[in-house]
Amino acid sequence: PFEAAIFDLDGVIVDTAKFHYQAWKRLAEELGFAFSEKENEQLKGVSRMESLDLLLRAGGITNLTAKRKETLASRKNEWYKEYLTTLTPADVLPGVRSFLHHLRSSGIKTAIASASKNAPLILDKVNIGSWLDVVVDGNSIVKAKPDPEVFLQAARLLGVAPFVCYVFEDAAAGVEGAIRAGMRVVGVGEEQLLARAHLTVTSFEQLEPVFLLSRIGVSDL
Ligand code: BG6
Ligand code: MG
Repeated sequence: PFEAAIFDLDGVIVDTAKFHYQAWKRLAEELGFAFSEKENEQLKGVSRMESLDLLLRAGGITNLTAKRKETLASRKNEWYKEYLTTLTPADVLPGVRSFLHHLRSSGIKTAIASASKNAPLILDKVNIGSWLDVVVDGNSIVKAKPDPEVFLQAARLLGVAPFVCYVFEDAAAGVEGAIRAGMRVVGVGEEQLLARAHLTVTSFEQLEPVFLLSRIGVSDL
């Protein structure tokens, strides 16, 4: 059964993952080391402070005080928010809007489950709030992905059991969290990075027919 779709935000609904990377890279360079896109993969889906820890580890920087870390994280966030000012409804990734529309008109509930504290700002800018039943983000959760908390909270607020939920994720940490929540997961992105997902697609443009089929029982994901 499939009753609810739970979406990660950054890198799934909107291409903000690239802005996160740009801001972390800028911080790394300021601290005197290079930070590759490949290294950035492990930061995806992870909370701001945990991402900073991973970044510092990649740069071999240890023993910073909590205060200094707060300063660095806010600096990154200021840059990130600067990049977000360019965001418009046109930045919603291809196929997302029509997929949401299709889900809702099929009676399927929709939610966002994001680690980001900037989620409300982003959702506001891209204007998709009316397509969503529930939003759970970094302002209301304690444990970051790969902990299942954010997904379980979304299911609870939607009023559905975990096993009727499909999660859409672009990050390995998110795929893991959804599996731990007892949900099925569609990876959005490169298959080898999201190997634990039940199915991987490159974009939502690829997805709608698969779901139509599964809904009428022709194929099971
Ligand atoms: C996730 C992103 O959605 O949110 C991570 O994939 C990011 O890259 C995390 O670190 C926290 O976001 P924010 O906006 O609260 O710093
Ligand atoms: Mg993501």
